[in-house]
Amino acid sequence: MASLVQAVLFTFATHTFAQSISDLGVSGGNGSRGGIGDGDHPVMHAQAYITDAMIPLAPNTTRQLAQGTAPVLSRTNNSGTCGNFRFVVVDSTSNGARQQMVGFGHAWTDSAVDVFNTLQPAVLDQVMNDLFGQSGNNMGFMRHTIGSSDLSGAQYSYDDNGPSFNEGEPDPSLANFSLGQYGTAMAQMIAKMGTYKGDVFLFGAPWSLPGWMKNNDLFIAGITNTPGGQYPLLNNSFNIGYIPQAVEYFTKYIDAFAQYGVTINGLSLENEPLNYQGGYPTMYLDAADEANILNQGLGSMLQQRGVLAMAYDHNTDQPVYPYRVLQGAPSYAHAVAWHCYQGPYPNYTVMADISRAFPGTLQFMTECSNYLPAAGSVNFEVAENFIPPVQQGASGAAMWVMATDPDFGPHSPYGGCNGCLGSIVVNSSTTYTKTNDYYMIGQFSRFVRRGSVNYNVLRGNEGSGATSNQFYVMSVQNPDGSWAVVFMNNMGSDQDVVLSFTGQGNQFWEGVVPSQTVTTWLIPSQQVLNQVNGTKAASTVPPYPFTNTTSIPLTGSTTIAVCNITTATTSSSSSSTSTTALPVPDTTHTIATTSMV
Ligand SMILES: *[C@@H]1O[C@H](CO)[C@@H](O)[C@H](O)[C@H]1NC(C)=O
Ligand SMILES: *[C@@H]1O[C@H](CO)[C@@H](O)[C@H](O)[C@H]1NC(C)=O
Ligand SMILES: *[C@@H]1O[C@H](CO)[C@@H](O)[C@H](O)[C@H]1NC(C)=O
Ligand SMILES: *[C@@H]1O[C@H](CO)[C@@H](O)[C@H](O)[C@H]1NC(C)=O
Ligand SMILES: *[C@@H]1O[C@H](CO)[C@@H](O)[C@H](O)[C@H]1NC(C)=O
Ligand SMILES: *[C@@H]1O[C@H](CO)[C@@H](O)[C@H](O)[C@H]1NC(C)=O
Ligand SMILES: *[C@@H]1O[C@H](CO)[C@@H](O)[C@H](O)[C@H]1NC(C)=O
Ligand SMILES: *[C@@H]1O[C@H](CO)[C@@H](O)[C@H](O)[C@H]1NC(C)=O
Ligand SMILES: *[C@@H]1O[C@H](CO)[C@@H](O)[C@H](O)[C@H]1NC(C)=O
Ligand SMILES: *[C@@H]1O[C@H](CO)[C@@H](O)[C@H](O)[C@H]1NC(C)=O
Repeated sequence: MASLVQAVLFTFATHTFAQSISDLGVSGGNGSRGGIGDGDHPVMHAQAYITDAMIPLAPNTTRQLAQGTAPVLSRTNNSGTCGNFRFVVVDSTSNGARQQMVGFGHAWTDSAVDVFNTLQPAVLDQVMNDLFGQSGNNMGFMRHTIGSSDLSGAQYSYDDNGPSFNEGEPDPSLANFSLGQYGTAMAQMIAKMGTYKGDVFLFGAPWSLPGWMKNNDLFIAGITNTPGGQYPLLNNSFNIGYIPQAVEYFTKYIDAFAQYGVTINGLSLENEPLNYQGGYPTMYLDAADEANILNQGLGSMLQQRGVLAMAYDHNTDQPVYPYRVLQGAPSYAHAVAWHCYQGPYPNYTVMADISRAFPGTLQFMTECSNYLPAAGSVNFEVAENFIPPVQQGASGAAMWVMATDPDFGPHSPYGGCNGCLGSIVVNSSTTYTKTNDYYMIGQFSRFVRRGSVNYNVLRGNEGSGATSNQFYVMSVQNPDGSWAVVFMNNMGSDQDVVLSFTGQGNQFWEGVVPSQTVTTWLIPSQQVLNQVNGTKAASTVPPYPFTNTTSIPLTGSTTIAVCNITTATTSSSSSSTSTTALPVPDTTHTIATTSMV
């Protein structure tokens, strides 16, 4: 079948992209480093995967990456005759091509490292495969904390040089730099990720630089952080006298991780640089100083090591910050990171503004969290903060805490997130639980390959953070030429969707996106559809592997008639109900000989 694989390989050569990821130090990703939709695993027939937005009241009572009824291909434009269909139109011409994608994922925190280190080896192997393996979530865009964050049981930096974090003496030569027990444990754990995922894009972000690099004067104030007591509001701003030390600190960190076999692909200079509250580690870093650090040595060091400098890493309500960094360090700042916590809802259109002002700048949604979602409630936190950023130019997105114990920890006793629900809850050395976020992230990370291209959705989106109902659509073309289309249906009713591509007339994909779900459709490439038509007269051969059934079974006993045309459900899923769990995407490479006659 090698010739077929080559035949269906898609080339992007004729397209130009607003944002390319070609020099990120991570490959396009085939085989063990890719997954369905890469050149080696082409999508051979339409498929649908569904995760219910309701947080299940009991395990396995909702659809979680369940295989649903695949959309069916119609050759007729039934939009005039088919009633209440929602028409989704993707501009698949070169005009519609937007940014290239890096991937989706999560953050490594000390909490994840701690709880994973309590697992028995075989269980750790399973959880790593669930997160990074091709039969698992296959996550490809990962963040990690440099030093402690609020999801750390202890506070530390890699050079405290004193009794504890925020209480050290200056160490101008960084002689006392050390990853220490927590940093070492994190590097060792992250190194295991490569076994499952290959070259994942990994970027680091400190919550604070060492305390002595900040404008804190604890010795004058005579204060320390007291658990359970009143913690002081430290000044917590970066002392610009320590720019050379900051550069050296980041250099030593990148090289120390490399010694454990971990390649750092990106660096955010400071997590939430406008957040300097006391308690858990924070640091104020002015935008001008973020640019200054890049200009005074960090930028060239990162370039030498092939590390992407990522500006800002904070909420969408202060977009002036990344503008100042991009303007202040034009030689070095080529990416912007955003968080989702602007109230009452994030305004991701600021990302499109950046793309216009600084063409080619990569952007990412790098932090968002589900806080204590109630069982039985409908929760779209992941899709609401993955789809709109991509629509506005993001090449990837990552949820925050990946794994905790059942008490949302270990986390800082001094403040920060004490209810951030990760994807994995480790219950014991032999048991862990995958939360709904795990499956929601999988709706993206399993199906969107590195190097895929986001295309503009001309029609079909509805609503926004300001409205009570939303229907969001994200459409990427994967390296094999197939399409992964992710729908978020928060309309309160099933949506009968007709999906078409402007560059591919006379093809209308009809199917149901069930109410209160995130649903991903995989649509085969034109090359596959051409191939399966084979040499036989087009009029007599239904496009493989579609049969000419005329109804789509829905959840329960309902069926809807799709427009009565000579196409229908896929042979592989025509009898399946939507509750069949099939976490492993179908990557069948062969074409059934019956349809090749
Ligand atoms: C993917 O696999 C195809 C077929 O083996 C090969 O031609 C292509 O170069 C590979 N691409 C990458 C990025 O590895
Ligand atoms: C839920 O389903 C998974 C996959 O089929 C299975 O491994 C697990 O044991 C089930 N959990 C419960 C509580 O039934
Ligand atoms: C399908 O028909 C509708 C009107 O019924 C029209 O708006 C739309 O452009 C047509 N789509 C294509 C691809 O021809
Ligand atoms: C820092 O390093 C110096 C020289 O190696 C050592 O004497 C000192 O004890 C270290 N300080 C701390 C706080 O570890
Ligand atoms: C922190 O200290 C710096 C330098 O002394 C000062 O400019 C800044 O205003 C202080 N910030 C706060 C919030 O006190
Ligand atoms: C979102 O930001 C854009 C600028 O990118 C602005 O024009 C718009 O008014 C903002 N929307 C809201 C609801 O604040
Ligand atoms: C693990 O802990 C979580 C959170 O407390 C809980 O929802 C889940 O039921 C537990 N799973 C097991 C198998 O004990
Ligand atoms: C496959 O055959 C159909 C008719 O059954 C034809 O309309 C269509 O254009 C062919 N597909 C491609 C991609 O050429
Ligand atoms: C398609 O429909 C025709 C006429 O109803 C029927 O004879 C044929 O068996 C159907 N083909 C398939 C693959 O179901
Ligand atoms: C499809 O055909 C069936 C049976 O002929 C008919 O009852 C149904 O109304 C048709 N559906 C549409 C959307 O035309």
